[in-house]
Amino acid sequence: MHIQNNISLKPYNTFGIDVTAKHFVSVSNIEDLKQVLSLKEYPNKLILGGGSNMLLTKDFIGLVIHINLKGVKIISEEHDSVIVKANAGENWHEFVLWCIKNDFGGIENLSLIPGNVGTAPIQNIGAYGVELKDTFESCEAISLDTKSMQSFSKSDCNFDYRNSIFKQEAKGKYIITSVNFKLSKNNHNLSIKYGAITSQLKIMEVSKPTIQDISKAVISIRESKLPNPKEIGNSGSFFKNPVISKKYFNSLIENFKDIPSYPVSESEVKVPAGWLIEKAGFKGKRFGDYGIHKNQALVLVNYGNAKGNDILKLSKLIQKTVHRLFGISIEAEVNIL
Ligand code: EPU
Repeated sequence: MHIQNNISLKPYNTFGIDVTAKHFVSVSNIEDLKQVLSLKEYPNKLILGGGSNMLLTKDFIGLVIHINLKGVKIISEEHDSVIVKANAGENWHEFVLWCIKNDFGGIENLSLIPGNVGTAPIQNIGAYGVELKDTFESCEAISLDTKSMQSFSKSDCNFDYRNSIFKQEAKGKYIITSVNFKLSKNNHNLSIKYGAITSQLKIMEVSKPTIQDISKAVISIRESKLPNPKEIGNSGSFFKNPVISKKYFNSLIENFKDIPSYPVSESEVKVPAGWLIEKAGFKGKRFGDYGIHKNQALVLVNYGNAKGNDILKLSKLIQKTVHRLFGISIEAEVNIL
């Protein structure tokens, strides 16, 4: 374990923002993690996983702890299912590919989502009709307070749309160190209800899809719409899709006939923030080194040397404009630090 000084965090956040950590350490086992958490000389600590859901707006005057816990193993196996344990520092997409190679089903729709296994439950990552919670069995986390390990079952986690206990009452109190998934063997329950997947499978001329076909379809859809963070800095969806009352939605339809919506409950609908932002005229706009992606207005991008504050200012302008035009508040999905 080696604590370094004045390290650029540019390689550690998918937005590619160049801020400096006063101190930085990468930990690859639980013992080191416990030890580093107990260091009294660094009262200010920032835990960094895949860095795919954060916007860094200033230097960090403290110790950045990079969670580099690796390893994937099968815990138990039955005829139709398997429990797999993946450590927090595993790259999410590589874990998805490992599952597909082993013919373990359930997370193929979540292919190519940036980030690591350990941060996936925090915001209950989701795409194309599947959420992490659908295969989540439990997770282990270390309490920052007592430095002891604690297990969280699915119901402990209070999963919801882009939300969990780790964004609510347990926020900032735990570090997830591993996640157990319950995946299918043999009889996979495929989720192909999303139109985009069905059309992509048609293009691929696949009529009886395997989990591998679905993963391939999702990868092509994502590659066509979302920028690759290795080429253009970004953090996926910057905003959450807002939930509004049906009553308000019906009043909006009078002026905006083509406004899309997804049902949420008897009285509420979800409206795609990407649509609102596009209608507000922001899609594809570029301001120097930062802007809004040309194929998906939900995604803010860093073309090179953007500052976190540039992107933050742009996000506020978008929020203000969307509110002025539609009377809807859109909330950031990424964490702003
Ligand atoms: N739309 C527009 N303009 C845009 C973008 C979208 O009009 O610039 C419209 C589309 O035409 C469509 C609707 O908005 O009618 C929904 O678009 P899409 O299917 O692309 O999905 P989304 O609601 O924008 C959500 C997730 C994505 C996930 C996709 C696919 C959130 C905040 N985002 O996006 O998650 O991949 O569904 O399931 O829920 C992420 O979190 O990083 C992410 C990419």
